[in-house]
Amino acid sequence: MKILAIIGSPRGKGNTYRTVRQAEECLRSLDSSLEMEYLFLKDAGLGTCKGCYLCFLKGEDSCPIKDGRADIEKMMENADGVIFATPVYAYNVSWIMKNFIDRFAYVCHRPRFHGKKAMIVATTGAVGLVFTTLTLGFEIGTWGFKVSSRLGVMHPAEEIRQEQRMRLEKKTISRTAKACRKFHDDLTDKGKPDPGFISILSFRLQKDAFSRKSKDLADYRYWKGKGWLEDDARYYCEAKSSLLKYPLASLVAWIMSLMQPEPSGEN
Ligand SMILES: Cc1cc2nc3c(=O)[nH]c(=O)nc-3n(C[C@H](O)[C@H](O)[C@H](O)COP(=O)(O)O)c2cc1C
Repeated sequence: MKILAIIGSPRGKGNTYRTVRQAEECLRSLDSSLEMEYLFLKDAGLGTCKGCYLCFLKGEDSCPIKDGRADIEKMMENADGVIFATPVYAYNVSWIMKNFIDRFAYVCHRPRFHGKKAMIVATTGAVGLVFTTLTLGFEIGTWGFKVSSRLGVMHPAEEIRQEQRMRLEKKTISRTAKACRKFHDDLTDKGKPDPGFISILSFRLQKDAFSRKSKDLADYRYWKGKGWLEDDARYYCEAKSSLLKYPLASLVAWIMSLMQPEPSGEN
């Protein structure tokens, strides 16, 4: 089993890396053949997104920044699962992780990681774990990853009492074990995915939106090429069927389309 850990701390081997190393130990106890690769975003030399829209409009190959982005995409493709790890900076992901997300923004429109599993890790001095792990998990979910688990760990900067530290360590160990078990269970589950209602609705809304786009836009070409614009296409990949979720998603998408204002023709 191949796991890629993407570390979004500008400090490199700080608290976040140490937390992921603990998760690695845990995962190794569940699978001795585990292959772990680390990617430190601080050393990856990713340029900052210029907001030119070329990735959305023409395709990611038209991005004017020539760096290792495509290699990182291949690394994610080659892994069975990816750990996305960030420190909490001002209640959110670090800038380095946010830039990484922005550089892959085209993947929200043209998802490609279905079948891959992700674990989200965040570390903090005190607060911001819930928001940060949810935000990062949401982003990664739009890329097609199944977010198996979210692990938030506190690393208080100031000295704390011995018994407090021991309680925290105990909690961290049990949370890490639980998150790793869930990740491992998903990694070994080779059954069809069972997408949630929101994912099915997202597919439906994107399908409706991209089918109306100009035929030379990258999003249209990608969706057309995948067969996702066909009448009977219901999801990005073969998935477990559900009597309720798919008709309900169609109904909600239809109601949303009725509520959308007509384009006025003005800017
Ligand atoms: C610029 C900056 C912003 C931070 N913002 C927060 C914050 O909003 N809430 C918090 O509890 N800790 C905050 N911290 C503390 C870090 O989240 C915490 O020390 C984290 O474990 C650092 O991980 P690292 O060593 O991998 O970089 C911040 C630290 C820095 C340097």
